[in-house]
Amino acid sequence: MSKVTVVGAGNVGATCANVLAVNEVASEIVLIDIKEGLSEGKAMDIMQTAQLMGFDSVVRGVTNDYAATANSDVVIITSGIPRKPGMTREELIGVNAGIVKSVAENILKHSPNAILIIVSNPMDTMAYLSYKVLGLPRERVIGMGGALDSSRFKYFLSQALGCNANEVEGIVIGGHGDTTMIPLARLATYKGIPVSTLLSAEKLEEVVKNTMVGGATLTGLLGTSAWMAPGAAASFVAESIIKDQKKVITSSIYLNGEYGMKDINIGVPVIIGRKGIEKVIELDLTQDERAKFEASAEAVRKTNYVLAEMKLI
Ligand code: NAI
Ligand code: 2OP
Repeated sequence: MSKVTVVGAGNVGATCANVLAVNEVASEIVLIDIKEGLSEGKAMDIMQTAQLMGFDSVVRGVTNDYAATANSDVVIITSGIPRKPGMTREELIGVNAGIVKSVAENILKHSPNAILIIVSNPMDTMAYLSYKVLGLPRERVIGMGGALDSSRFKYFLSQALGCNANEVEGIVIGGHGDTTMIPLARLATYKGIPVSTLLSAEKLEEVVKNTMVGGATLTGLLGTSAWMAPGAAASFVAESIIKDQKKVITSSIYLNGEYGMKDINIGVPVIIGRKGIEKVIELDLTQDERAKFEASAEAVRKTNYVLAEMKLI
């Protein structure tokens, strides 16, 4: 028996609950939102696909009833406002910081042992806020951004190579922002073959650029930020925890000296299993990659300063 709560029944939260159910990641999934009836409706809609999709997981929707989330193994926080066209993720901080903090505090009253997956943007800063204010070990506060960005990287690589995205490996480190993420083209492979030997430098540069603005491109097309891949990416992280899969997933974690950095949450590859973050993988970055990583960290820190100005940390 395992239980996952998803906070926020909007686009990302409801999609995530759906993927969790269809993939039977947990036996019980609770969807919670402040908007009266929204979670109940989304949960009922998902449950009416159970027989069609053939899953046994039970999804329950509640309005602001934290008692229903009790004893969750994993809690995914998606509550907050999304980007509108032209907005950066960083511009969401004022509203989302208050929401994420109060939601996480309520969750821990009922699920003191839960592992948190933070999705709300600006995600690196929301993960940092959660780590700083909740008093949890860093292993239990996982910012989700790299799972999504790496999936987008693999998508664009597969488009350039003309192959299935499952044949491709690639990771994106750094902040979850249009200018802060770093798709590591040097390490990307197609069935073990470095893609740099298969694609021209110009094509590879185009793939990297498309990945970095992947979220903004979709926000422009959709009028709000994306939800299919984000919801699936959050479920992917939760599944590695619940099923102890020990997947390597780039996640925004609190660094304690790794990569020469302290007091920041930023995306690095980690092994995720039943205890949450089980190992941080320290990549041997080139000089250029390290410079980009440091610039990315500087940008994330600038956003983090707003938390101090708002007296939230
Ligand atoms: P949405 O507007 O569709 O859903 C947000 C939901 O949060 C709404 O239903 C709202 O009622 C609810 N909510 C607000 N305050 C709440 C509270 N105190 N308690 C419970 N529920 C509350 O937004 P969407 O598209 O689902 O995005 C959610 C967040 O995820 C945004 O901040 C967005 O920027 C972020 N995001 C992050 C990604 C990542 O990779 N980390 C990717 C995509 C989105
Ligand atoms: C995304 O990457 C906006 O974080 C959101 O789609």
